[in-house]
Amino acid sequence: MEASSLLGHDAKLVLVIMAFLLSTNITNSVAKSPYRLVANLIHHDSILSPFYNATATIADRANQSLQRSIARLSYLNAAIKMETPEDVRGLALAGTGSFLVSMSIGEPQVHQFLYMDTGSSLVWVHCIPCTGCNTDNPIFDPSLSSTYYPFPCNHDSYCAENCDHEKNWCLFSIKYEDEASAAGNFAEEKFTFSVPNEGITTASGISFGCGRKMNEPYREISGMMGLGYGEGSLAKQIGTKFSYCIGSIEDRNYMHNRLIIGNGAVLVGSWTPLVIRNALYYLRFESIKFGSDTLAINPRVFQRTPQGRRGLIIDSGTELTYLIRDAYLALRTKVEEVIGGSLTRSFDPQRPTMLCYFGRVNRDLPTFPIVEFHFREGAFLKWRKENLFETVSNTEFCLAMDTANENMSDDVSTIGAFAQQYHNIGYDLSAKRLYIRRMDCETDLVNYL
Ligand SMILES: *[C@@H]1O[C@H](CO)[C@@H](O)[C@H](O)[C@H]1NC(C)=O
Ligand SMILES: *[C@@H]1O[C@H](CO)[C@@H](O)[C@H](O)[C@H]1NC(C)=O
Ligand SMILES: *[C@@H]1O[C@H](CO)[C@@H](O)[C@H](O)[C@H]1NC(C)=O
Repeated sequence: MEASSLLGHDAKLVLVIMAFLLSTNITNSVAKSPYRLVANLIHHDSILSPFYNATATIADRANQSLQRSIARLSYLNAAIKMETPEDVRGLALAGTGSFLVSMSIGEPQVHQFLYMDTGSSLVWVHCIPCTGCNTDNPIFDPSLSSTYYPFPCNHDSYCAENCDHEKNWCLFSIKYEDEASAAGNFAEEKFTFSVPNEGITTASGISFGCGRKMNEPYREISGMMGLGYGEGSLAKQIGTKFSYCIGSIEDRNYMHNRLIIGNGAVLVGSWTPLVIRNALYYLRFESIKFGSDTLAINPRVFQRTPQGRRGLIIDSGTELTYLIRDAYLALRTKVEEVIGGSLTRSFDPQRPTMLCYFGRVNRDLPTFPIVEFHFREGAFLKWRKENLFETVSNTEFCLAMDTANENMSDDVSTIGAFAQQYHNIGYDLSAKRLYIRRMDCETDLVNYL
């Protein structure tokens, strides 16, 4: 069977749920794994990113960031609608995102940039031979790696049912919303991460999908590092914890974002319960404080219904934050009260429902009240100007938020990457707790490593 026929007529039946059974290997890889993996996390627009474009203007980048947020929302919208039992071990669905993990695969090592995705639970990488892969970046060729081990059809019952008998391959396929988008074979490999000061960390026996056939939107990217709650997730393969610290998104020279996977992840600050549904991370809302005022928002507007409507997701792949209308309007009204008298509103046809002004954040908003977004049991995000406002051109900035209702038919609210800047976010998947602490990733994080 040719790789190109992996997505034959059966693609219509592409598995929504990928209950691939990798338990033996996961146990092995945990035993072999280091205490933690430390990786450089690179924003899509950073000078270190393969997508870096030196000639793109602020407006170009803001527009692309908006397009990514829109694509991400439509992915999350598909993911939350899928009816999946809690014990599903993998979800054959993946989005794209905002941050890339710098890592290498195989021996000899081939460097890759994988999207970090807390909203999906598979790790996959483009592999040679490949139909539809992007050849701008080096593609991993498993035939040259001494540490590559492809799962045969008799690996387990999932593989037996999803088998290419000719190649003796255990097949996987991924869909993006409703379209079959990637397919290939399951295998094991060694992953290597290298970070200045932290040195090199490796993990062998990591289960991943070797992508042999790519459709949109996965042609342009090297692969995906799923950190969702499903069993194929790298977070679950290495242990039960991970954390990331995100600094400035708008500073393209910023290089201190870190992702730490494993039981040595940084879990500091106050915590809030993590509620896991469809392998996505939901949080429970408590209140929003604007300066010294607590906004009048009934926490029930954020409550997830048994049918999956509403709820509050934490996601690093969305740049903007989308809040259910009542909460968005309450916060927006306060922002308008503070800025309204001094700056002129600008109307951006690309952002019809967003609050935008002519001006520059640092020059024209020398001070701004601190906004705190509180979750149940005490954890909170502390938002300063750089969390609240996004510069969208040389002369305009916008509140980096929008109303969820216009954009997500199920009214799901999403805390995006802007809102998480200058915070360390720690996920404890066994205790089901999320730890949040505002910190400077460059100077503070080292104290916890
Ligand atoms: C870089 O950005 C400029 C301005 O938006 C655009 O015209 C050009 O096509 C981009 N280059 C690449 C390689 O994407
Ligand atoms: C924004 O990006 C979209 C999609 O890439 C493009 O169609 C549109 O023309 C861009 N708009 C502006 C104002 O740059
Ligand atoms: C949000 O919805 C509005 C109205 O439907 C639309 O014009 C806008 O592009 C959407 N924005 C995002 C980020 O999806």
